[in-house]
Amino acid sequence: MTMGQLDERAARNAGASTAPGLRATTPANGKPLIAVYGATSKQGRSVVVTLLGSGRFRVRALTRNRDSREAQSLEKLGAEIATVPPGLGHHKELVTAFTGADGVYLMTPQSNPQDDVEYALGKQLADAAVDAGASHIVFSTLEDVEKITDGKKPAPHFTSKARVADYIRSLAVSHSFVMLAFFYTNFLEYYVPRMEGGKLLMPIYLPEDFRAPFVDPLTATGPAVLEIFSNPDRYNGATLPVVGDIISPREMVETFQRVTGIEAEYRNAYSREGLLHYFPDFAANELLVDELVGMVEYAVEYGYFAADHDLEWSRRLNQASLSWEQFLRATRWRGEKLPFGI
Ligand SMILES: NC(=O)c1ccc[n+]([C@@H]2O[C@H](COP(=O)([O-])OP(=O)(O)OC[C@H]3O[C@@H](n4cnc5c(N)ncnc54)[C@H](OP(=O)(O)O)[C@@H]3O)[C@@H](O)[C@H]2O)c1
Repeated sequence: MTMGQLDERAARNAGASTAPGLRATTPANGKPLIAVYGATSKQGRSVVVTLLGSGRFRVRALTRNRDSREAQSLEKLGAEIATVPPGLGHHKELVTAFTGADGVYLMTPQSNPQDDVEYALGKQLADAAVDAGASHIVFSTLEDVEKITDGKKPAPHFTSKARVADYIRSLAVSHSFVMLAFFYTNFLEYYVPRMEGGKLLMPIYLPEDFRAPFVDPLTATGPAVLEIFSNPDRYNGATLPVVGDIISPREMVETFQRVTGIEAEYRNAYSREGLLHYFPDFAANELLVDELVGMVEYAVEYGYFAADHDLEWSRRLNQASLSWEQFLRATRWRGEKLPFGI
């Protein structure tokens, strides 16, 4: 199954609610309009195809480039495409892009730790959504690692998102947060296995027997967000984890072998030395290495999600949620590097 087919599957499997809870302020076909920032991202695509597939929402997909293959495929599915410039200083253009939207889905793209822009970007997005008159914001956040670890583990791409969430809580707008587990796609995109001596070596950034939450962002984000936009009052103020499986590297490798028939072995990319041994290119960015190591040490020592979250929520509402095994079967991934569009 291709990633495009997965997108379509996500659309067909759209969540269980029956009526959109958001009221359309400028009704076209009586359907509320949701603007999605980062619409061509893995999580954004899932949101767009699921909302459109539900038949209950219109979608405006925000992108830097309307000519990209991903933006065009969202347009073919029925999304209205709006271009917005990247980076800071674009409040006005964002307000224009959000105008008319009843709800907005916001994510902040990966950025260099050196740039330190994620909080400012998230704040800019939230301010623009409020100024454009959106009645509900869903922001893709993560835990406040700085606070939880008392500054012991550097993971600014978590903490900055938590600070954006705090900022959104201070605004006079209804809001909810999704918090995505580690992506399965990290192994296809960034931490790619290598074939050596007839065996596939899988360097994984966690200790072999540590069970961590994982998810497929391409199929799991949309159903969670559809549920929230269908019931914004129920989820106002809530932070909702999106999880597909809770699984250790040992179990991931065993499952991979069973599903693919390829002999595979775990390799430790948890330690700084292990990470740099298997992925030497990271060494060019010392701050990034500190951040990657800080993030995984945080996850192992404190738990990826804070203890008060209901880790079953997304799987209860989305019966089609993919476990690691189902992800492997659906994607037919056999250890190769795979891009995700863009
Ligand atoms: N990997 C994980 O395990 C994990 C887990 C939880 C949360 N996250 C978070 O998820 C986010 C990434 O989500 P994703 O993987 O779904 O995204 P993605 O697939 O990497 O896509 C990022 C999108 O953002 C846009 N973009 C890229 N660079 C940009 C820039 N400099 N300014 C504005 N837009 C830019 C691009 O869209 P256009 O070209 O169309 O503009 C692109 O489609 C990160 O914040 C990460 O911390 C990751």
